[in-house]
Amino acid sequence: MKFFDSHAHLDDEKFNDDREEIIKKCIDENNCKFVTIGYSLDSSRKALNLAEEYDLYATIGISPNDIPQTKEQLWKDLIEMEHLVKTQIESNPKLLVAIGEIGLDYYWNRDNKELQKEAFIKQIEIANKYDLPITIHTRDAVDDTLEILKFYEAKNAGIFHCCPHNRELVKQGLKLGFYISFAGPVTFKNAKNADEIIKMVPNDKMLIETDSPYLSPEPNRGKRNDPRNVKFIAQKIADVKNLTLAEVARLTFKNAKTVYRIKK
Ligand code: NI
Repeated sequence: MKFFDSHAHLDDEKFNDDREEIIKKCIDENNCKFVTIGYSLDSSRKALNLAEEYDLYATIGISPNDIPQTKEQLWKDLIEMEHLVKTQIESNPKLLVAIGEIGLDYYWNRDNKELQKEAFIKQIEIANKYDLPITIHTRDAVDDTLEILKFYEAKNAGIFHCCPHNRELVKQGLKLGFYISFAGPVTFKNAKNADEIIKMVPNDKMLIETDSPYLSPEPNRGKRNDPRNVKFIAQKIADVKNLTLAEVARLTFKNAKTVYRIKK
């Protein structure tokens, strides 16, 4: 059985002591593929380097929690970010599979909503220009996220990562052609409507992810997360949808390859 973790942060400093060991274990022992996701200029560069070194996939993006304080600096960063995308596409396009994570987060940052929106919109435009899907982070910002997506269409759609358990978001997201990616919180005992949300997502639109090193699923909640734990998310989906673990592994693997347009 092989798994595809659609969203992990292997560049995170929590892996500084054993990054190589973990990556090799995920690939060799667990037969796991994964995308290491950028969230800032620095982490995007690191993600690309890791993808290059270990034959993985990466994304480039500036997350709503990593945008600079001033408009001037934000635009400098966005220009730099686009340059990084362009350079990667010219040198080795295969390992760059999406723009992200990008989006809006009004849970952690309420004072810079306009800057967040500007960054989100500009990065959707960059994704469209370079013909890439996007991966979206949204927290406490469902209405504004959907409004932007309806107005600034992401041509290749993409993924709602660690999808909030919000009916309207899932309904509208699916309508816009997006994939829904489930993470550790669906396994938490206090996850209110996780089952209902899982049932809303058709088999050909669901993805699994760890968001490592954060959000470890049960039974490893509270510990450092890594892509090997993605099987617990798959098991939860299998239980809710009455599928076997192997079926969920196969479906989510195929869906990840489709949304990220991975050929091999
Ligand atoms: Ni993430």
